[in-house]
Parts: sequence; structure tokens; C-alpha cells
Amino acid sequence: MIPLARPSIGPREEQLLLETLRSGRLALGPRLPEFETALSRRLRDLPVSAVSSGTAGLHLAIRAAGVRRGDEVVTTPFSFVASANCLLYEGAKPVFCDIDPRTLNVDPAAAEAAVGGSTVGLLPVHVFGYPADMAALERLAAKRGLWVVEDACEALGAEHADGAPVGARGNLSVFGFYPNKQLTTGEGGAVVCPDAATKEGIDSERNQGRAPDMGWLDHDRLGFNYRLDDLSCALGVAQLERLDELLTGRARVAARYSEALAGADGVDLPCPDEGGDRRGWFVYVVQLPPGVDRDAAVLALRERGVDSKPYLPAIHLLSFYRRRFGHREGEFPVCEEVARRSLALPFYPDLTEGEIERVVEALRQVLASTLSRSA
Ligand SMILES: Cc1ncc(COP(=O)(O)O)c(C=O)c1O
Repeated sequence: MIPLARPSIGPREEQLLLETLRSGRLALGPRLPEFETALSRRLRDLPVSAVSSGTAGLHLAIRAAGVRRGDEVVTTPFSFVASANCLLYEGAKPVFCDIDPRTLNVDPAAAEAAVGGSTVGLLPVHVFGYPADMAALERLAAKRGLWVVEDACEALGAEHADGAPVGARGNLSVFGFYPNKQLTTGEGGAVVCPDAATKEGIDSERNQGRAPDMGWLDHDRLGFNYRLDDLSCALGVAQLERLDELLTGRARVAARYSEALAGADGVDLPCPDEGGDRRGWFVYVVQLPPGVDRDAAVLALRERGVDSKPYLPAIHLLSFYRRRFGHREGEFPVCEEVARRSLALPFYPDLTEGEIERVVEALRQVLASTLSRSA
């Protein structure tokens, strides 16, 4: 079976993991600042706080932004559920708006229309590694006095048209390092901070609210255990050394897929880079032709040895969100149509030419048989 995702782990990762294991410093050791400094170097030297997951990072980022119970935050329904859930942790409410059909990111005009009297912030997501239109969203934030937290969990290596790396515009921004991501630490994440004082607050909150000087047993604020351990950081350091190679590998696989699927009838491919924005490839998600039975396609692909997954479901239509907020079909038609048709194909930097051909051939066969059955 060709899996959906597989992290690329080389000898350097093994070496640093072993060295760290043997050092006896498994948490709050030297690998943590080493990883943070190395990551910061890729993000215009902004201060970085490494945390135990992207979700933990989002939680700490919105707290640092100043979210309060009852606040509303405008965000996208086309994302992994954590970008909305983090607001609920603090008693705030995600207010969804529809997405741009090309980039699949939040549509700035729809975001503006969703801003109301209780709105305090914007939480855009750079979905599938494609940069959201931050220039427009930052203008909206400035006009309406809103804070911005960027969910860049899927977008390490992406770049805005103005040359800023995604996550390095000076807004609180969050990366995720789960094993399907561009860089993995196993579980893990990071918050990019606008300044050193914000990092100090987040460093404390991730570590049970301990005073920044680590004064033993002095906890001067509410905190959590959102620490990233040193083994994870060692993995991160090794992956960062290879990040350009890993990103190039992903871009190569994406280009091969796009070439091979260019003529596939009714299949919409991920949008190519436009206007100077550059995607940091995270997943390869196609839109199946309208009307194709996607669940049947997933099963038929599996029978041919190819793993695939509907990706992503619309957050507002998840059963928890329907129950909690009364959301219904039809609220965000662009997002819902994309969520109905989208299918993630196997995607990782070491995917071979032969495997790519097998995936493409299997998809062509499956589409030909489902389309001829529905004709
Ligand atoms: C857009 C987005 N936000 C948040 C997260 C949460 O990250 P994690 O799984 O590391 O908690 C993910 C990761 O899957 C994601 O894709």
C-alpha cells in the first residue's frame, strides 16, 4: 500500500536523537533553544517558542493576542478542526466565512462581511501550504482594530509575494510538526512571536506558568504543560538542516502529479503559484469531478494499493459544531463544495516516480469506471 504520508528520516536525525538520548537531558535541555534559534533563522529572526503541538501553539497564541470569553474571531471553515477549537478553549466563538475557490483560503471580502460588534480578531489559515492574502487581511484588521493570529501549521517554507516567509510578518503565527508536515518533531509545534516579551509570556505559559527565570516553584500565572521535549527538538534540528531538501522533494512530487493529471477530465488540481506567492507543499489534494462517489473512489483506490482520504471536511458541518452552534449545509457554499469533492493523494518527499505513476494510473482507472457507471 502506498501510504498517504511518510516522514523522511535520515542518518542525521538518528545521530542527533541518539546523542540526545545518551546526554540524559530529555526535557528543558539545550536542544530546545537550539531548535528555536535554528527555526527563528528561517523566519526573519523573530522570536520562536517551541511547544508540544500546533494545537497547543494556537491556544497560547490566541491567549497572547488577548482573547476573552464571549469574544468573536473570524476564521475559515476549511481547515483542520484545531484552528477553530482553540477559540472554544478560551470561551471565544469562531465566526466562519467562506473561502476563495482558487486558493481555498479565507476570502478577505467574506471576512470583512463577517466582522461584527463582538469581533476582536482574525484567524486565517494558510491551508495546504498556500499563503493566505495577508496584505488584505492585515488592512482589514487595521481598519477594524482587530488582532491577527496566523495558523501556518501547514505552511512551513511558503512565501508571500512581498518576499516575507509565511509566519514571519510580525503577527503571532503558529506552525505544526506532526509527521505529515514539511518538518516533523513527532508531535510538536511552534509559535512565532512579534517580540521578545511575547515569547517570554508564551515560554512561561507552556511551562506551567513558571517565572521566566525558572525560579523553582514560583508560578506567577496560569500555565499549561505544552513543553516540547529535547528528543523532539533534536529531531527538529536535524530536519531543519535538511528543510530545503525536504521542501524541494515535495515540490518535485507535486510537479509530477500536476503534469500527469493535467488531462484528467473534471479533476481540479491544486492552484499553481500566482502573483509571486509561493506554496510550501504540504499535501496534494485534488477535487474529484462533481458527482463522483468519493467514498467508493477511496475504496477502489485502496483495492489498487493506494491510500487516499477525503480532506478536509468543513468544520461547521462536523457533528460537534452543528450541535453546538446550529450550523447547517448551505452557509458557506464554496467551502462545502470543495469539502465534498476533495481527495488527498499519497504525498511525501521520498515518493518515487514509479509510485507516483501507480497512484495516477489507479486514479485514472477508478475515475473511468465510476464515470462510466454514472453515465
Ligand atoms: C491547519 C492546522 N491547524 C492546526 C493543526 C494542529 O496541529 P497539531 O496536530 O500539531 O496539534 C493542524 C495539524 O494537523 C493543521 O493542519
